[in-house]
Amino acid sequence: MERTFLAIKPDGVQRGFVGNIISRLESKGFTLVGLKLINVSRELAEQHYAVHKERPFFSSLIEFITSGPVVAMVWEGDGVVASARKMIGATNPLSAEPGTIRGDFGVDVGRNLIHGSDAIETAQNEIALWFKEEELVSWQPTM
Ligand code: CMP
Repeated sequence: MERTFLAIKPDGVQRGFVGNIISRLESKGFTLVGLKLINVSRELAEQHYAVHKERPFFSSLIEFITSGPVVAMVWEGDGVVASARKMIGATNPLSAEPGTIRGDFGVDVGRNLIHGSDAIETAQNEIALWFKEEELVSWQPTM
C-alpha cells in the first residue's frame, strides 16, 4: 500500500491547525500509520532538505523548521502521495487554491504550514529518515 510523509511545520502547530489538517486527511479516507510531535534536530533538518542546500533560502528554511515542534506523520492509501500534495496546495500559499491547506490558511512561502513528499520514491526516503520501522503501525480500517 502506498505511503506518504507529511510534516506539520512549526507555524501549523503554533497556529493550532494540527487537528484540522489531520481531520482533512481522515475525512478524505487515508489511514494514519505514523504520528509523532518532535523538535527537529539541525542534522535531521539538513538531511531532509538536502536537495535545497544551494538555494538562497536554505539557512532560513533550516532555522524555521528547527524553531519549534513539528508533527511528523505517515499516511497510507491508494494514490496518497499525489492526493495529499493536491490537498496541501501549491508551495506558495498565495498561489494555492482555496480549499487546499495552504490556500485556506497561509500567505508566506517560508511559512507554508505543511510539507508533503513530492513522489513515491521521495516518500519512501523521507519515511525512512523520520521514522523507525517500529514506530509505524500497519492496520486496516474495518468500517
Ligand atoms: P516544502 O514543501 O517544505 O519544501 C521546501 C520548502 O522550502 C518549501 O516547502 C518552502 O517552505 C520553502 N521555500 C521554497 N521557496 C522559498 C523561498 N523563496 N523562500 C523561503 N522558503 C522557501
